[in-house]
Amino acid sequence: MTKVVESVAEMRALVTDARKTGKSIGFVPTMGALHEGHLVLMREAKKICDVVVVSIFVNPTQFGPNEDFDAYPRTWTEDLAACRSVGVDAVFHPLARELYPEGWGTWVEVAGVTDKLCGKSRPTHFRGVATVVTKLFNIVQPDKAFFGQKDAQQVIVLKKMVRDLNMFSEIVMVPIVRDADGLAKSSRNAYLSQEQRQAALVLSQSLCKAREMANSGERDIKAIKAAVMNHIQSVSLANVDYVEIYSFPGLAEMDILDQDALLAIAVRFGSTRLIDNVILTPKST
Ligand code: PAJ
Repeated sequence: MTKVVESVAEMRALVTDARKTGKSIGFVPTMGALHEGHLVLMREAKKICDVVVVSIFVNPTQFGPNEDFDAYPRTWTEDLAACRSVGVDAVFHPLARELYPEGWGTWVEVAGVTDKLCGKSRPTHFRGVATVVTKLFNIVQPDKAFFGQKDAQQVIVLKKMVRDLNMFSEIVMVPIVRDADGLAKSSRNAYLSQEQRQAALVLSQSLCKAREMANSGERDIKAIKAAVMNHIQSVSLANVDYVEIYSFPGLAEMDILDQDALLAIAVRFGSTRLIDNVILTPKST
């Protein structure tokens, strides 16, 4: 039975009860418009935790002033059915005023790893993510919280936050789920026209190409970045926001692929901005 919880007080009571009987709590924070990428996180949580809580909350503080907060897809009925089908125990679905009441004004800012990649294109985004995830962790107090590699920088930022603030919860990263043709699943794929969706296949294709380069011994970061950039720019509907490679998980600059690296890309198709990434490992000699 999946319980729908709208208030902070009720959510707290539910997890306090579960804890009293020694149950571990797994947590999957989402903004809804659920797809297979989200469901895989829930299934992973079910595998290793006794009680699974999913939050569905389109968090206003992580959207910039000209971003898609109003247009973001809201599909509550389908989302609840999806949570039920996976056997989620509770869905936390608060109103914005429940999490951000009148007079609210405390932010969590993670330094260092937020000033590049998506943090550069979306300067207030990670402050909003870190703040809402802190609030959700304080309410749900999960033993483990599950996040997708799809948003690899988000995982890096949140792991640093948990470490820096001595938070109780452990962050678990789950691999990217893709459509059969390679496009990474995303709630924002719903914005794409058929033509744009076809063009967007260049994302995963260019990442595959980079992985092949790394596997065949290419170690020059500039060369790998250039190949990815050229491939994406060969598609006329694609507008590159960034193509970057940093060490993983440290996000340090690198010239030579001599340790694990995150190749992350953000590309616009019309007004829709999509992200994708792959972790490159140096070829063992
Ligand atoms: P949202 O975009 O709804 O994503 C919720 C979780 O699903 C994130 O951890 C994201 O990485 C994961 N996810 C999305 N698409 C995925 C895919 N194709 N494969 C694997 N995992 C995927 O990320 C957020 O919401 C918000 O920033 C949130 C953490 C909820 C804070 O508001």
